Amino acid sequence: MPTLNWIGKDAVVDHHRRVPTRLLECDRELSVGDPDAENLLVEGDNLEALKALLPRYRGQVKCIYIDPPYNTGNENWVYNDNVNDPRVRKWLGEVVGKEAEDLCRHDKWLCMMYPRLALLREFLREDGAIFVSIADHEVQNLRAILDEVFGRQNFIATVVWQKVYAPKSSAKYFSEDHDYILVYARNAERFLPNLMPRTDKQNKAYSNRDDDPRGPWRPNNLAARNYYSKGTYPITCPGGRVITGPPRGSYWRVSKEKLELLDAEGRIYWGKDGNSVPAPKIFLSEVKQGVVPQTLWKYEEVGHTQEAKKELVSLCDFDSSADVFITPKPTRLIRRIIDLATEKDSLILDSFAGSGTTGHAVMAANKADGGNRRCILVEVEPEVSQRVTRQRLERASEQLSECETGGGERV
Ligand SMILES: C[S@@+](CC[C@H](N)C(=O)[O-])C[C@H]1O[C@@H](n2cnc3c(N)ncnc32)[C@H](O)[C@@H]1O
Repeated sequence: MPTLNWIGKDAVVDHHRRVPTRLLECDRELSVGDPDAENLLVEGDNLEALKALLPRYRGQVKCIYIDPPYNTGNENWVYNDNVNDPRVRKWLGEVVGKEAEDLCRHDKWLCMMYPRLALLREFLREDGAIFVSIADHEVQNLRAILDEVFGRQNFIATVVWQKVYAPKSSAKYFSEDHDYILVYARNAERFLPNLMPRTDKQNKAYSNRDDDPRGPWRPNNLAARNYYSKGTYPITCPGGRVITGPPRGSYWRVSKEKLELLDAEGRIYWGKDGNSVPAPKIFLSEVKQGVVPQTLWKYEEVGHTQEAKKELVSLCDFDSSADVFITPKPTRLIRRIIDLATEKDSLILDSFAGSGTTGHAVMAANKADGGNRRCILVEVEPEVSQRVTRQRLERASEQLSECETGGGERV
C-alpha cells in the first residue's frame, strides 16, 4: 500500500506508546448534573488526556467524532488553527528533535495528528467508527494517515457537508461550499450504520389509487437495461392490447411465469384502461423502514455554519463579538452522525471538543429516543472549556429539560 512520508514521521508513528499515563483530577466545583451519568469534559491536551482515559475506556467507544484544526494557514485565531502555537512548537521540538526546525506547516500538522489518531483507534469497539471533519487543506494527508492507522480496508465513506448557503463573492478562485467528513470503521466487517428515517418526500411517491388492501404502493418499471435471458416475451394486457416486447435495448425484469404469478396476486398495475405497460407494485409496507445514508449532506438537512454560530450565541454569553468561538459545527450535523453510528446506550468521544456541539447533540439524541448515551469531550484551552464548552452543555441540558416540562426556549 502506498504510504505518505513527511519530515518527523519516524519520530511520531510510535509516539503514542511513549506518552506517560497521567491521572485525571476531578474538579467538583466545576462539575454539574448527575455525577453517575458518566459524561466527562476533560480539560487538557488530548494526547495526554486520551492516554489517561485509555485504561478505563479501551475498546468501549461506539462513535468518535473529531473536528481537528484544519490547518488553513489562517492563524489569526490562535486556539483553533495554529500549528505554530508555542505549545505545539515546544512539543514538536521535544518529540521530533532537531528535525523539527525544518518542518513545514503540513509536516507539523501530520506530526500532531498521527499519534492522536493512533490512540483514538484504541478506544473504538469492534463495531465502532470514527468520523473526522476536514477541509481541502489537509484532506489528502488525512486520508493517507487514516488509511495507515485504521487500514485502507476499513475506509467507509467521504461525506460532503454543504456548509454554507450563499457564495462568498470575495473568494479569490472558487467559493468553497463544503467540508468533508471522512469515515473509517475499526472493522468494516462489523460496522453497520443505522438507516435514516424515511422522509415525507420519499413516502409521497406511494399512493393507493386502486384501494389495494395492502396499502400505499408505487409502480416499478417492468423494463430494465440489464440483460435477462427470459426477459423478451410479448405481453397481452387485460384490455386486449398486445405489447410485442420490452423497448429496444431493455429486458423485462421478470420472466413470463413470474409476471403471471405477480398478476394473480394483484401485484401488477395495468393502468386505468387495463392496457398500459404492466407495472409491478412496490408496497410501502414491504420496503425497508429506513433509507441507506447518502454521502451528500445538504444544509437544509444538517445545518450550515451560520446556524451553528447562531445556536452557540443563543446559548452562551460572550463578552464581545471578538470573543465568540468561531468554528462551531451545527448540532444537527453531529446529530446525524450520532443517529447513524450509535445505539441508545453508546459511548461517544470527541477529543477536539471546541464549543461542545458533540455533547449537545448527544443530549438531544437521548432526549429524542429516551436513550442513555454518554459522552467524553476533551478540550485543551481552559478559556474555551470553562467559558464556552461547560456553559453550553449546562444551558443545553437546561433547555432540553425545559422542553420536557413545557418551558420556553432560552433566547
Ligand atoms: C475546530 S474546533 C472544534 C469545534 C467543535 N466541533 C464545535 O462544534 O465547537 C477545534 C478545537 O480543538 C481544540 N484543540 C486543538 N488542539 C487540541 C489538543 N491538542 N487537545 C485538545 N483540544 C485541542 C481547539 O482548542 C478547538 O477548540
